[in-house]
Amino acid sequence: MLKIKSSKLGMPYQGSKRALSGQILSKIVNKVGTRDFVLYDLFGGGGAMTAAVVENGIPVHYNELDPKTYELFEYVMTHEEFPDEFYKWYSHEEADELVKQDGVLSSFIRIVWSFGNGVSKFSYLYGTDIEPFKKLGHYAVVFGDKQSIDKLNRQFSTDAFSVFDTGENTYKGRDLKVRRLSFGQITKKLNLELNETVLQHLQGLEQLNRLEHLQRLEQLNRRKQLTFSNGDYRTIEIPDNAVIYVDPPYRGTAGYAQEFDTKAFDKWVSEQTVPVFISEYNAPFEVIWGKVKAETFSHTAKRTKNVEKLFWNGISKIDN
Ligand SMILES: C[S@@+](CC[C@H](N)C(=O)[O-])C[C@H]1O[C@@H](n2cnc3c(N)ncnc32)[C@H](O)[C@@H]1O
Repeated sequence: MLKIKSSKLGMPYQGSKRALSGQILSKIVNKVGTRDFVLYDLFGGGGAMTAAVVENGIPVHYNELDPKTYELFEYVMTHEEFPDEFYKWYSHEEADELVKQDGVLSSFIRIVWSFGNGVSKFSYLYGTDIEPFKKLGHYAVVFGDKQSIDKLNRQFSTDAFSVFDTGENTYKGRDLKVRRLSFGQITKKLNLELNETVLQHLQGLEQLNRLEHLQRLEQLNRRKQLTFSNGDYRTIEIPDNAVIYVDPPYRGTAGYAQEFDTKAFDKWVSEQTVPVFISEYNAPFEVIWGKVKAETFSHTAKRTKNVEKLFWNGISKIDN
């Protein structure tokens, strides 16, 4: 059995395979019986599979049709350090404006500062009532900003927030997560004492949690070949030593920017001459693995189990 490490990396993304990428990759390498191939992740999205492949020292090609998703992932994977603007606070108005513009900051805002992480429609992460408090939290945690810390202390009659006053800007360091979690613990504890809804909301600084996911990708050791393309999966040239992994929009699900033609997709899969592995709920190919993902209830209270499956085109031979 060929061993695969799994550490759940990837950008926050609708339909992300972060939780499953290691298990899927393990199925793939064991089916083809080698790690000696280039994995073509043709519906790359938030890049969970690409990241798992990189982590395991296997060469990989990431492709994604949506230009903004592509732009952010490519940026994160090819830069040593994030620009200061990734650490800033963005108000509702600023985010609404920036998301319409071109450039990587716009792509960043769309993924990090959106409610949920659907990419078809941008809606700001926080409601108007909670936004000023989240801003104070952001300034305290990220910048150690004294004024914000004082305001929080005064608002909740405490001095607990003073721990963030380190007298220096430490926001780019690896301790961002430690500070965010500590902020969550403080607000949770205060909420138990004061029972204030605002404090309950303040326990999570979601934009920082997402930023940390990007930081973890940025810090990945990229020892092997990592290439990128931004196009339709059918336009990507596939070499003979490739193994293809495809995670297309699920049949019948809405929410992505483009409509997806499943008939054309099935035809394309059957025409490939290299191994193809497909993440889907249903597809007309051989199932080689399955995992119950979630149970949903319809309006008729009928229970549906969503079994996330891995399908295969039956080819295991790779030409090196
Ligand atoms: C289910 S998501 C992939 C999620 C990804 N595996 C992850 O873990 O984050 C499907 C992706 O396919 C992209 N997509 C849709 N149509 C495509 C096409 N024709 N060619 C390439 N990518 C496409 C969507 O933009 C979306 O990002």
